[in-house]
Amino acid sequence: MVITVSSIKGGVGKSSVVLLLANNLASRGRKVLVIDTDLNNTVTVYYTMGIGRIGEICERQNISLAFSTGKIDDRNIVASRKQNVWVVPSSLKLLDQRSMENVEIKRILRSPKGFDDILIDTSPTWDNIVAGALMAADLILSPVAFTEYNYNMSACLLSKMQTVMPDQAKNLYFLFNHWSDQYSKYPTSLQNLVLSMYRKGIDNLLSVTLPDTRFVDRYTNFDEKCCIKSPHTGCARLAAGVNNLINMIYEDKKVVEIF
Ligand SMILES: Nc1ncnc2c1ncn2[C@@H]1O[C@H](COP(=O)(O)OP(=O)(O)OP(=O)(O)O)[C@@H](O)[C@H]1O
Ligand SMILES: [Mg+2]
Repeated sequence: MVITVSSIKGGVGKSSVVLLLANNLASRGRKVLVIDTDLNNTVTVYYTMGIGRIGEICERQNISLAFSTGKIDDRNIVASRKQNVWVVPSSLKLLDQRSMENVEIKRILRSPKGFDDILIDTSPTWDNIVAGALMAADLILSPVAFTEYNYNMSACLLSKMQTVMPDQAKNLYFLFNHWSDQYSKYPTSLQNLVLSMYRKGIDNLLSVTLPDTRFVDRYTNFDEKCCIKSPHTGCARLAAGVNNLINMIYEDKKVVEIF
């Protein structure tokens, strides 16, 4: 399955969701390719930190070269430091490729062979590269943080997709990241106010949520593991949320205890 994680709004958790899903899927024994189309290269850094001469490797093997050569294959795929996960690193040269046809980008993003899952991280914007990544997906996840502005940007993404790629707009689902059980108890909390805006204006809302927890930062920056049985509530809730999300997408029942 090709899953693109996208949002015009920055900082909502796109890269974190990509890493969590990819690592959980990899722990299920699936072969996962993570494609980093974001100039901020968050997922590239996460998967390659500590690998010797990685800077040089990423100069030679990256998504920009894949776009130039018209294919994703061994010339641009890098083995990551995680078992069962490979990565196509990001590149600053993407800046010069924004005028590429989105149909061609879609074709290239769907070209890798031999993987069970492809996860695509995107820049927080709307351009031809993002549009190509949205067109390439079997499923598009758009993480949401609870701000009114986030609602406007979600509505904007949905409306752009409905105009440019109406069939793909049906594959766009909004995922409430930053969910707090505590705030859901107060009718006037910002979370409930924003939630009611989404419920009124947008159909494809996922019932599975991911918790707001500082553990996400520890996961991505300090390489801590997500564990169902962790005494750290945020960690345990996040592990449960990610398992639930994957089981919902793949119609599975498995629980990965640690990933
Ligand atoms: N569920 C969450 N709870 C708490 N913090 C979170 C959560 N998800 C992400 N974060 C934190 O929010 C920050 C932004 O997350 P992330 O980099 O994944 O967002 P992004 O949408 O990819 O950002 P960008 O648009 O810059 O690429 C990070 O510090 C991350 O640790
Ligand atoms: Mg990101």
